[in-house]
Amino acid sequence: MLKLIERIAHKAGFDVITCSSGSDALRLLMRKHADLAMIDLRMPDVNGLELLRQIRRSVPGCEVILITGHASVESAVDAIKLGAREFLTKPFDFDRLRKVLAGIRVELSRRAQVVALESAVAHQLEFCGMMGRSPVMQEVFSLIQRLAPHAKAVLLSGETGTGKELAARAFHQAGPRQAKPFLTVNCSAVVATLFESELFGHVRGAFTGAVDSKAGLFEAAQGGTLFLDEVGELPLSVQAKLLRTLEFGEVQRVGSLQNRRVDVTVIAATNRDLRAEVAAGRFRSDLFYRLNVVEVELPPLRDRREDIPYLTAAFMGDCAQRMHKPLTGLTSTAERLLLTAPWGGNVRELKNVVERACMLADGNLITEREIEGSLGPAFAPGQTAQGRAPSAVLQEVERGHIVDVLRQVNGNRMAAAKMLGISRRALYRRLERHQIVDIS
Ligand SMILES: Nc1ncnc2c1ncn2[C@@H]1O[C@H](COP(=O)(O)OP(=O)(O)OP(=O)(O)O)[C@@H](O)[C@H]1O
Ligand SMILES: [Mg+2]
Repeated sequence: MLKLIERIAHKAGFDVITCSSGSDALRLLMRKHADLAMIDLRMPDVNGLELLRQIRRSVPGCEVILITGHASVESAVDAIKLGAREFLTKPFDFDRLRKVLAGIRVELSRRAQVVALESAVAHQLEFCGMMGRSPVMQEVFSLIQRLAPHAKAVLLSGETGTGKELAARAFHQAGPRQAKPFLTVNCSAVVATLFESELFGHVRGAFTGAVDSKAGLFEAAQGGTLFLDEVGELPLSVQAKLLRTLEFGEVQRVGSLQNRRVDVTVIAATNRDLRAEVAAGRFRSDLFYRLNVVEVELPPLRDRREDIPYLTAAFMGDCAQRMHKPLTGLTSTAERLLLTAPWGGNVRELKNVVERACMLADGNLITEREIEGSLGPAFAPGQTAQGRAPSAVLQEVERGHIVDVLRQVNGNRMAAAKMLGISRRALYRRLERHQIVDIS
């Protein structure tokens, strides 16, 4: 068996080392880099699943194929849960083995350049510093591009970390005022009593401490853009004055009756539901309707997971350069972890996780070990399958395995159930769930 596999793997482009015991294999793996380990489930010294577990823990850059003569669905699913790449049953289907090995080869070379390739795509599709390949993000870019030349007031909404500040800058850059100032004020950070003078300015003696006349941010942003971050925090008294400025294009410095003309685009951002704030009487409805004439919503990352590989590659590329590390890609388990994490903190969280993983990584690949360490205990991979529906990947694996076994027994369901170590009824349930029909 070892000789046979060695020959096939060699033909598939691998340098092969064979071992006839699990402990030898592990010792060897700790010393020598390997892209792939093929291990038998039953070995004289260690159990294959245990070896798999140790490899995932100690050399996570190494892919694992498990081989077994006892094809139960449970052990296949266990193996995949533990991070095996494939599960092959004996008697061997050598064509399948060749295909699997060829697939892994292709993926290894893809991984050696995935950061370079995908970050190049991400940068190609970049819009004023915003990256995103998903249709929803492309739509956001196109909306900003079309609105930027005309909009005088804009409302950006979206959860924390979705890129509202980036979008505000994109609006400014894509519009006719890009050479003029872009000023930011964080509405939650300014003391309420100082807010008016901060935005609109004041004249000498307007209040205690006002020793000089001072222009506010509106005047300072003349001709450009004023970004009001967390606009939901704006005190009601200031909201009224802001509305007047938006409607008439004028400001009055505190303590002055004189109107000054200002020509400023106002971009407001919020991660609160402003409609609810209006309903609760905390936000003026007239100001809300003035702002939301042009509303752009930044979608949460979990609704555009197809962007994750590109954002990851771009962030990794930046980090690799900054940290002088030869990072070229991620292991498939690391990729899967990133694709399925909940991302409550959206792109900001992804960026932080990738940066931390880059710091921790040694070698060319980021592995699940670094990602787990960076995602924190709240999202360890062992927990993903527990208490929830099995992931699409697991479903797919289970389906493939059942089809394989059915083929081996020429579609005989009784025999298949026996080989799979489940009852015939359990097999029927699975056939139905996976819509497997007519295999012989
Ligand atoms: N589409 C994107 N492409 C590249 N980087 C992004 C993208 N969206 C967000 N980021 C990055 O994520 C981080 C958070 O973005 P940003 O500060 O714009 O979010 P925000 O919506 O203003 O969040 P908050 O509501 O918490 O202030 C920044 O480092 C930003 O560069
Ligand atoms: Mg922000």
